Amino acid sequence: MTTIFKLFAGPYSTLVPAGNSAQTILNLFWWMVGGAFFIWLLFVCILFYALIRPHPHNARRTAILIIGGGVIFPIVVLVVLLYFSITPLPGLLKPAPKESLMVEVSAAQWWWRINYLGPNGKKIELANEIRLPLNEPVQFNLKSVDVIHSFWIPSLSGKIDIIPGRETMLSLTPTKVGIFGGVCAEFCGISHSLMKLKVVIMEKEKFVKWLEAQEAPAKPPASVSANSGLKSFMANGCLACHSVRGVGNFGVLGPDLTHVGSRLSIGAGILPNTETTLHSWISRTHKIKPGVNMPTFDMLPEEELQNIAVWLKGLL
Ligand code: CUA
Repeated sequence: MTTIFKLFAGPYSTLVPAGNSAQTILNLFWWMVGGAFFIWLLFVCILFYALIRPHPHNARRTAILIIGGGVIFPIVVLVVLLYFSITPLPGLLKPAPKESLMVEVSAAQWWWRINYLGPNGKKIELANEIRLPLNEPVQFNLKSVDVIHSFWIPSLSGKIDIIPGRETMLSLTPTKVGIFGGVCAEFCGISHSLMKLKVVIMEKEKFVKWLEAQEAPAKPPASVSANSGLKSFMANGCLACHSVRGVGNFGVLGPDLTHVGSRLSIGAGILPNTETTLHSWISRTHKIKPGVNMPTFDMLPEEELQNIAVWLKGLL
């Protein structure tokens, strides 16, 4: 049985859950599948019975069959299924306990701004990647700066809409170490399908170390090429939209890039994070993600693009 389920495993799988909420939803799914299968079987049996014994029934038995099978049976089945679907809701919508990890998520077309509260109470801003400690409850407080989005990490939990002008909440407890995927599950514009994020579940000690590293300012450039990249980044006005802590905290429109090199993906979960993909992202931005606010910098000389990519990848 477990081998069969391995076929359904994957970063977006709801059938191999890695969180308590996803497990609750999966249990409901199996009750529904079981119920549907049972009813299907029942009707197939009735159908065969009718085919084998095609003689007409008397009026009383016909009435019982119609009222029983057509009215009473569906009412009973729907009430039972409704009960099973409503009872898990209070548990799924409950906020995490007071001292739990809080993660602020701000959705924008088409990326995720992530804020952690650091150990000393200061905010740590990241983008498009969430890391969580294993077996610890976490609460996401979700906002949108433009249109309606929906936050969904299928392996960990159900989805929740993010509505402009309102804060919504989702809490969960991860139960398996691994790398999972998150998506925006509400059509939010032309690049909606390119609005993803990576979710990494790690042991508590590793998580604490990671968060400390994310809080630190950016490392100085480690090579001549990276140093030129930093200069080009500043000269071309990239800091008007992006922040790189330690270099300049100017831009708030785009993702914070302080530790962009340490992330698993770029472009909001759509490309692996390498010097080549960083280069492509800067020079072919609108080919990769149509409609995005960042302009394409295809006018920059090849060497400058290469240097900026080297510097960004070095921001670990
Ligand atoms: Cu954001 Cu779809």
